[in-house]
Formats: sequence, C-alpha cells, structure tokens
Amino acid sequence: MGIFSLTLDSWGLKVPLLNHNGATMAAKKKTPKKTGIAKHLDKIIEGDCIDAMKALPDNSVDLVFADPPYNLQLGQADLTRPDNSRVDGVDDEWDKFESFKAYDAFTRGWLAEARRVLKPTGAIWVIGSYHNIFRVGTAVQDCGFWILNDVIWRKSNPMPNFRGTRLTNAHETLIWAAKDQKSKYTFNYRALKTANDDLQMRSDWEFPICTGAERIKDADGAKTHPTQKPEALLHRVLIGATNPGDVVLDPFFGSGTTGAAAKYLGRRYIGIERDKTYIAAAKKRIAAVKPLGDEALKTQPSPKAARRVPFGTVVENRLIKPGAKLYSPRGNHSAKVRADGSLFVKDGEDEIQGSIHKVGAAVQNAAACNGWTYWHYEAKTGRKPIDFLRDKIRKEMAG
Ligand SMILES: C[S@@+](CC[C@H](N)C(=O)[O-])C[C@H]1O[C@@H](n2cnc3c(N)ncnc32)[C@H](O)[C@@H]1O
Repeated sequence: MGIFSLTLDSWGLKVPLLNHNGATMAAKKKTPKKTGIAKHLDKIIEGDCIDAMKALPDNSVDLVFADPPYNLQLGQADLTRPDNSRVDGVDDEWDKFESFKAYDAFTRGWLAEARRVLKPTGAIWVIGSYHNIFRVGTAVQDCGFWILNDVIWRKSNPMPNFRGTRLTNAHETLIWAAKDQKSKYTFNYRALKTANDDLQMRSDWEFPICTGAERIKDADGAKTHPTQKPEALLHRVLIGATNPGDVVLDPFFGSGTTGAAAKYLGRRYIGIERDKTYIAAAKKRIAAVKPLGDEALKTQPSPKAARRVPFGTVVENRLIKPGAKLYSPRGNHSAKVRADGSLFVKDGEDEIQGSIHKVGAAVQNAAACNGWTYWHYEAKTGRKPIDFLRDKIRKEMAG
C-alpha cells in the first residue's frame, strides 16, 4: 500500500500528492466545494432570517443592510382615497406582529445574529419609519452596535395623507451603526463628497420613492412588492460604506434591491427572504443587471488614504500668504496666518496661537476642531475652506 503525503488545497480538501517513491501523482481532480460564506455569495436563502443567519459563520460579512417589517398596525379597515379607491398600502402578513413586545423580541433576535456575522470592521444600516425605527434604534444600541449617524431619506414624491388627519409622512430614517464603538468601519468620505459636487455629504438625502420602470409589476400591472426601495438609495449606501468585492447581507431581501445595487457596483450579496414570489422576482431582476467594470468602480480615495499635507506646506507654497486672515464659517472669528503655518488670534488681552486645529478649537471653546474645514480664506469667488488649497497641492503632487 502506497504512503501518501497529504496537503490542503485552497478549499480545505485533502489531496494526495506524492507516492512512497516521491513520484508526483496526478492530483485527483475534484470540483472544489465551497465552504463557509463562499457558498452563499450572490444567492438568496429562502427562509426565516434568524434561522438562516444562524447557518452563516461568525465575522464573515462586511455590511448588513436591513429593511425589516415596519409593524404598521393598520388594523382591518382598508385605507381609501377621497374617491373611495383603495390605497395599495402594506397590509401583508409579514408585517403583522401580535404586540410591540413580540416585535421587539423579533428585532433583538435578528440584530444579534446580524452582529455576530459582521466582521469586526463591519457596519449595519437599518431603514424604517416612525412606526418601528425608534424601537429598532433602542435595540441596535442595546445589542452593542455603535450608532454613527441617522440619515433621513426625504421622499420627493410621498403619498399624501388621504384623510387629512396628520402630516404627510414624507420620510424614512436609516440608522448607520458600526459593530462596536472601536470598529474601523468603512466610510468612503471623499467618494460621497465628490458625488455631492465637492460638498461634504449631509445626513438628509432626497430621492423619489420607487416608481416608473424601476418598479417591479406582475402580469396584471400590480406592484410585486409593496415596499420596494429605490436603487439610488442603495447605490449611495454601498458607495459610501463598502468597497468593491465586499459582502453585503440583506436579511429582508424583498424584491432584491440590495442585490441589484450590489451586483451593479461589483459587491457580493447574500439575500434572505421567506416569500417565494419575492424571491422569484428578485432573481429575475438581478439576472438582468450588468455589473460595472473595474475602471468605473474606482472611487475617490478617502482623506486617510490621501497624501498628508500640513498647513505649513500651503503657506510655503504661497497659496496663503503670511499675514493673511482666515475666517470661521460664520465669520464671527478670524485669525492671522504666520510664516511657520501657525495661526494667531488677539482676543482682548488674550493671545491664542497654534495650529489651525488648536486655534479653531480654542476660539470655539471646543475640545477639538478640524481646522481644514473650519477656517476659510478669501478667494476671488468668495470665502472657501482652506481644504480647497490642500486639495490643490495634493493634485499637484500627484502630477
Ligand atoms: C420591508 S420589506 C423589504 C423590501 C426590500 N428592501 C425591497 O427593496 O424590496 C421586508 C421583507 O422582509 C421579508 N420578511 C419579513 N419577515 C421575515 C423573516 N422573518 N425572515 C425573512 N424574511 C422576512 C418580507 O417578506 C418582506 O419581503
């Protein structure tokens, strides 16, 4: 009987390589079996999201995007327009819970699993309306996530309040949270700033609700899914919070908006959904998506990745001359620039001097300040943050 040494191939399979004379044996060709998270990539798992997530390994996904049931508590009566036509709202079984207590238990169950499968660098986005987002937000914090922002999705074309008894409900809220307080989560700051015409991306986003050709309809022209989200919303989330190749898990996949945006943007997705009709619609939708090429997917590097340029370099290059004045955003503070790149402020008897950051913090009585965005210089077209000058130098250095 020959003695074989064993080695591990990249999928963890044991493959005989040498016989007892040391002669190379033809490695038995086997189709590598995907293990761990790899076998779920770009697939939709049918079933309950808590059970399905339990089958996923710890620390294996980069981002969770979750659009859970809203728990709308609409009651039995149909919602009608003034002309008595029925409003096509969310009255589906998947949105019904016995009580707030039952909803909270469900929320904590899926959040705990979502957090377990997230990599230490991972983050979660959860979207909801006033019906559920405050309960979800409490659970997000209680589960150990660290909230980074809440984002308001302002609907440019909201459904009116047909009865005229309340305000038009024109927004939904997204919570963005890191796995924990110390997580080094992904934030493509520069990419979002560039997308926003070089202005820092804010936390209020305006998009229309999903209508027109994007809205998936069945053969009778009825909406396939009552709460299909706009792909533009997912596009922004994925550009801002993931990199190409990252794995995005959506435990409430619905019509597959997350999968469609992920495939288009060169990210990997894992969907979980318990409704067969939605799964079929999502599969068809995603199959029709043509992914962007590598060149189109390159994003603007974040400042951390960008070359470090101290303020002294801006002064040395005479983009700001010593003696020039810098102003706070509202113009209520000013400081003079010195030849060594420090700032100087005379405030009555007091004199403050130091770096752009130190002086910025001191004039505001704040613990810290980003001097690059706080201090503005007098440009020909009006006042601009000195960050513009740093960008100019970075571009010149890049050649
Ligand atoms: C608000 S919708 C998500 C819509 C989706 N974002 C889209 O753009 O189409 C919630 C989805 O979660 C599914 N769902 C509800 N409870 C679930 C559970 N326990 N496990 C898996 N899916 C569930 C529902 O069938 C529904 O499609």
